[in-house]
Amino acid sequence: LRTTYLGRIAEAEDEATLEALRVEAVGKKGEVSLKMRELGKMSAEERQVMGPKLNALKDEINSALAAKKEALADSALDERLRAEWLDVTLPGRPRRTGTIHPVSQVTEEVTAIFADMGFAVAEGPQIDTDWYNFDALNIPSHHPARAEMDTFYMHRAEGDDRPPHVLRTHTSPVQIRHMEKHGAPCRIIAPGRVYRADYDQTHTPMFHQVEGLALDRDISMANLKWVLEEFFAAFFEVDGIKTRFRASHFPFTEPSAEVDIQCSWEGGQLKIGEGDGWLEVLGSGMVHPHVLRSGGVDPDEWQGFAFGMGIDRIAMLKYGIPDLRAFFDSDLRWLRHYGFRS
Ligand code: PHE
Repeated sequence: LRTTYLGRIAEAEDEATLEALRVEAVGKKGEVSLKMRELGKMSAEERQVMGPKLNALKDEINSALAAKKEALADSALDERLRAEWLDVTLPGRPRRTGTIHPVSQVTEEVTAIFADMGFAVAEGPQIDTDWYNFDALNIPSHHPARAEMDTFYMHRAEGDDRPPHVLRTHTSPVQIRHMEKHGAPCRIIAPGRVYRADYDQTHTPMFHQVEGLALDRDISMANLKWVLEEFFAAFFEVDGIKTRFRASHFPFTEPSAEVDIQCSWEGGQLKIGEGDGWLEVLGSGMVHPHVLRSGGVDPDEWQGFAFGMGIDRIAMLKYGIPDLRAFFDSDLRWLRHYGFRS
């Protein structure tokens, strides 16, 4: 019995065979166990001889099983180590990582520069009511500015009694939403997507603006000029960059100004911050009292400036990107070329 079992254990090649052997030999109904049960029927002398022998045999089989089990596990591990051998000195496979879109990059740059001047970021919905997009900004129903904006209107089913919604044509409605919620004083910028039905080399139906709004008791155009010049100097990395304020008109500011930055065109090469050329980059002005009132802010106590700037446009200028439409084509070669690595 002993030789058979020890022999078979030594030859076992896997754990399942070992387990079967354990059941067969020392399991409840195993051969050795059954023999031990028969001890009771033996004479005292026989029992004295056989008892210890059987016990010793059981122990021996159990430890043979345990030893073999460990040996099997060891060799399984050896086998894995051999099979899964890895050459850590091999060069890695190149992996294509994405890039940061110029619009995202520039939005972050703009946000960081204004944050340094104490401006927080505000947000508003891209689908807004025509009240926030127009009326609250002093653009009443039949004002020509509504037609000029090439507005996308949301379809309304018959019987829908919700107010008319539009894709916001500018980020200015965020001025109203922010004033309603937080009142004055305030210093915020609101970057985001805006929509107009227009398409050519410098216009896409969706583009990006950043709105600015600063309200306090004595904020003036001079503060606006300082903030914008500070911004352009930091953004275009040109100390003392010149700006030009041209009188203009927006229904939501009075007075209003369009702002140009200094540039030169030498040999077809555009340079920002030098020369005597001008590039228009934003609209601005002192917030109209009607607009303050729409936002629940008292124009007898508060005043301030607002501006709206095209993010895609300043991205094109800073990074020399010729065609606005390419921003939104999702062409991987373009994204790899103009995108930023984090
Ligand atoms: N909302 C204007 C536009 O989209 C820009 C602007 C914002 C002008 C704030 C003045 C004040 O053209």
